[in-house]
Amino acid sequence: MCDNCKGKFYVTTPIYYPSDNLHIGHAYCTTATDTLARFKRLQGYDTWFLTGLDEHGQKIERKAAAKGVTPQAYVDEICDATKKLWQIMDVSYDDFIRTTEPRHQAVVQKIFKRLYDQGDIYKSEYEGWYCTPCESFWTERQLKDGKCPDCGRPVEKAHEESYFLKLSKYAPRLIEHIKSHPEFIQPESRANEMLNNFLLPGLDDLCVSRTSFSWGVPVTFDPKHVVYVWVDALSNYISALGYLSEDDSKFRKYWPADVHIVGKEIVRFHTIIWPIILMALDLPLPKQVFGHGWLVMDGQKMSKSIGNVVDPVVLCDRYGSDAIRYFLLREMPFGADGNFTNEALLARINSDLANDLGNLVSRTVAMIEKYYGGALPAMGELEDADRNVIAIAEALPAKVDDLITRMQFSSALAEIWKLVGECNRYIDLTQPWVLGKSEEGRARLNTVMYVLAECCRIVGVLITPFMPKTPARIFEQLGIADGSLGAWDSVEKFGGMAPGTVVHKGAALFPRIDIDKEMQALAALNPKKEEKAEKKEEPKQESQPAAQQKAEEPEELIDIDTFAKVKLKVAKVVAAEAVKKSNKLLKLTVKCGQETRTVVSGISTHYSPEEMVGKTVILVANLKPAKLKGIVSEGMLLAAADDEKGTLRLLTVDGDIEDGTEVG
Ligand code: ME8
Repeated sequence: MCDNCKGKFYVTTPIYYPSDNLHIGHAYCTTATDTLARFKRLQGYDTWFLTGLDEHGQKIERKAAAKGVTPQAYVDEICDATKKLWQIMDVSYDDFIRTTEPRHQAVVQKIFKRLYDQGDIYKSEYEGWYCTPCESFWTERQLKDGKCPDCGRPVEKAHEESYFLKLSKYAPRLIEHIKSHPEFIQPESRANEMLNNFLLPGLDDLCVSRTSFSWGVPVTFDPKHVVYVWVDALSNYISALGYLSEDDSKFRKYWPADVHIVGKEIVRFHTIIWPIILMALDLPLPKQVFGHGWLVMDGQKMSKSIGNVVDPVVLCDRYGSDAIRYFLLREMPFGADGNFTNEALLARINSDLANDLGNLVSRTVAMIEKYYGGALPAMGELEDADRNVIAIAEALPAKVDDLITRMQFSSALAEIWKLVGECNRYIDLTQPWVLGKSEEGRARLNTVMYVLAECCRIVGVLITPFMPKTPARIFEQLGIADGSLGAWDSVEKFGGMAPGTVVHKGAALFPRIDIDKEMQALAALNPKKEEKAEKKEEPKQESQPAAQQKAEEPEELIDIDTFAKVKLKVAKVVAAEAVKKSNKLLKLTVKCGQETRTVVSGISTHYSPEEMVGKTVILVANLKPAKLKGIVSEGMLLAAADDEKGTLRLLTVDGDIEDGTEVG
């Protein structure tokens, strides 16, 4: 621990499922966590902020196969895009853990073995229903109209030899912990939900391994099993710190986590399964799990499968990441769901950022330039109006501290903007343009200008965790070069700015937006959203399955030249065999005119090797080769797949035709 540190602070986001369509809902959780981490760093805590990716599972395996790439190549690409987004949004993580990294897998394997050796994990048979998109097992009782209770999609019957974690054994201890630590699950309502809906009715043991897919961490003592979802995913919070590794100094320093920030739908896993794993490992529990609400659009959680997503990169590009961060944390209370609309975003940018903050800074700097040639005057005698503003500024850091510590980001920003508003009113009240005209007015103006400049500085410091780029721009205009004036300690007392500091008027912090024009531009950028917005007037069909809603959206159109780039050819399957250690893949030898190629195809649950031989199929002939289970696949077969129903049929041709013939 550093000498002057106030203590350690360890904060995490969930590790995200790799998504090729990261949306503003994902950015919401990460922005909040980043703000908390930045705030603690600003206050002098030795802070560690962890985020990452949850890269295993059947869904990834299937998506990669559909794309004709290995699961690792698939997640690698998404990992790069995810890190890029966090860079654009100024997410200051200290570590980024991927569950495919050896440092993580080794720890998961050790944890699994230890829990097995001590009898907390045992082998049995799983029988139930599995929802592939959600990667969730459900009992018959839990299904809703025979479908997944979470997403409403069809489920598959699953029978499997599995390992189970004895949750029930630790339940009484966990109930006691939750009752005696009211701060453990926040907001409090979520603690009651966990107790009443899950813990008190009794916990079923948890299935923690699978044999029906292989994209996961192998169980060392029974390698046909891979560790299944939550033991793998949740362990990231300690594997990233080096738990059970040669260098566990970070683990010793930072564990237990001060807070895990998670979306409300995964509070259950973080407050029941995770504490039980930790109890079984004899480790301290995280101090807090905070479950935030969802960003919704048209009344539904923003999610890729629903198709109502907003791209944060586009928004950051147009308005700057600070404006987006501000909006996300100001618009809705963190524990509750909040509606995202472009109108609300643009209105906030104009009113709070351009009008309130931007104007305050630009008016203050412009007046100091006009009346003092840019050099900040010293404060003179104080009057009530000055004392009022100073009192608000002096009380602000403690309020902000309290609110951020309780994850009330929106209220913290509202408090900061009260000072901004008060300063703008103070300008109207004191009328510097009148004071500037007379000799005695000038003496009074000295105080007014100093109070305003110092308040701008204080606001700059306090918004640092929320809007990392803006403070430097404010300080530049205020002529502040001394780094200590951007520190937390410097706002605990009013009067940090040195008289004589030379201000410089700069560009507007947040240029005003022409809302009508911008709304049109955004709609043009996202025609899918436009379509949805038009549909808003129609009665809501709550029970309509997500897949159906998606199908109604217009497809993106391509021109004939784009289509012509894809070379499709008729091919004949001359040999087929199952790929070893894979439940999905067939290795096919196809003849395509003069050439013979190997194609690895994820169709073995739908076609046997015998059925395949002799089939005339359509080959994507100019696809880059990809390695699947060590076999180089030279192309892809076209097939129609219905993920919801789990059906897949290959495209064939209607009658005799030579292999090698082009399709188009
Ligand atoms: O749950 N609004 O990953 P994930 C707000 N891998 N938050 C949202 C959101 C929205 N519209 N959509 C997603 C997982 N999120 C697991 C976690 S942790 C050991 C494993 C949030 O990619 C969501 O609530 O589905 C969650 O906190 C986070 O994004 C990652 O979700």
